[in-house]
Amino acid sequence: MKVSVIICAAGKGERAGFNKMLAPLYGQPTIFTTCEKFYNIADEIIIACSKNDLENITAICSPFGAVTVEGGSTRFESVYKSLDKVTGDIVLIHDGARPFIDGDTIKGCIDCVKEHGSAICVMPSTDTVVYCDNDTVTDIPDRSGVYRAQTPQGFKTAEIKTAYKKAASDGNNYTDDSSVYRKYIRPPYICKGSIANIKLTYKSDFPDRPYTAPLYGGKMVVGYGTDVHAFGEGGGITLCGVKIPCSKRLIAHSDGDVAVHAVMDALLSGAGLNDIGHYFPDTDQRYSGADSMRLLKEVVSLIGERGYSPANLSLTICAETPKLAPYIEAMKQNLAEALNIGVDDIGISAGTNEGLGFVGQKLGIYANAITLLMRKENG
Ligand code: CTP
Ligand code: MG
Repeated sequence: MKVSVIICAAGKGERAGFNKMLAPLYGQPTIFTTCEKFYNIADEIIIACSKNDLENITAICSPFGAVTVEGGSTRFESVYKSLDKVTGDIVLIHDGARPFIDGDTIKGCIDCVKEHGSAICVMPSTDTVVYCDNDTVTDIPDRSGVYRAQTPQGFKTAEIKTAYKKAASDGNNYTDDSSVYRKYIRPPYICKGSIANIKLTYKSDFPDRPYTAPLYGGKMVVGYGTDVHAFGEGGGITLCGVKIPCSKRLIAHSDGDVAVHAVMDALLSGAGLNDIGHYFPDTDQRYSGADSMRLLKEVVSLIGERGYSPANLSLTICAETPKLAPYIEAMKQNLAEALNIGVDDIGISAGTNEGLGFVGQKLGIYANAITLLMRKENG
C-alpha cells in the first residue's frame, strides 16, 4: 500500500514570534528535520507552505523529493488543499512543528492504519485536566481516560478526503484531523505517540542550547585536535582563513592554516572519524596549497553524514609572532560561517609561550581546539 504524508508548514508562528519552519534546529531549518524523519518511510511527501516560504521550503526539502503546495489561512485549509495532491492509499498528516517525531512512531502509526483504518498518535496525560468557566473549575475528568493527541494522524486517503470535503462546508473550525474524521466517518483508533514528540509552539520550546539535546533523544560528544607548523622563509601566514602579515610563512603542503587544521581534527575526532591526513593526504597533489577553510567545510559535511553538527568551539593559538589580537574577530566570523554556528559559540585565545620551547623560539605555531558536537538522534 502506498503511503503519503502531508506535512503542515503554512502557519505564521504567531505565538513563537518568528517563522518556526525556517528557524534553526541543530544547525538545520526545523522543516528540514521534520521532513527528513519521513524520508524512506513514506512513499510521497507533500508539504503545505505559506506563499512566502514556498520557494525556500521547496529548496530545503528537495533532497527528500518533497512536493510543496501553497497552504491556506488555517491548518484545516492547508490540509484540505494538500489532500488534492495525495496519491497514496494511506495518508499521514503531521505538523511541521513536530520535528522530534521518530521512525518507530511513524511506522507504528502506519501499521495501525493498515490494521484498523485510522491511527491517532496519543500520549496519556500526565497532568490532571480541568474544565473551567471564568475563574473556577467546573469539572475534572477522570485522568485515566485523558490522552493528549499528537501527530502524525493516519487515515485511509479516500475516507479522510470525504470527511474534509464535508467539513469544508459546515463552517466549524477543526484544529486537528481526528476531529474531522470522528465527525464524518467514525471514532478513530489510537496508537502510541512519544514523549519527545512535542509541538514547538513558543520560543522557549526551541532547544537552542546544546545541553538540551539529550532531552530530545540526541547525544553530545567532545572532540579534541592539535596541529603544529614550522616557520620557513617567505612572508605572510593564514589563520582561520584570515591573511596576516608576517615576516615568515608556515611550511605546509596546504596553505598552512595550523588553526583550522586543529579545528578539523577536533571535529573528526569527536565524530569518531580518522584524522585529516586520512581524508586530505599531503601526498595528494589536489591538496597542494589547498584553502583549508574549504577543507573545513568538507569536514563539516563528513561529520554531518554521521549525524553530527558542531555546537561550540574553543580554539587556542600559541604564537610568539605575529600579534594575533587584531585578527581574532575576523577569524571567528569565518569559523562561524563554516561551522554553521553563532560567533558567540566560538572562543579563540591567542598567546605567546613566554619565550619557552619551539613556539617561544619563534620556530613555529601550535594550535589546539576542543569542540562539542551534537548528534540529532540515534539511528
Ligand atoms: N499550519 C499550517 N497552515 C496554517 C496554520 C498552521 O500548515 N494555516 C501548520 C503549522 O505550520 C504547524 C502546524 O500546522 O506546523 C501546527 O500549528 P501551530 O503549532 O499552531 O503553528 P502556527 O500556526 O505556525 O503557530 P501560531 O498558531 O502560534 O501562529
Ligand atoms: Mg496555529
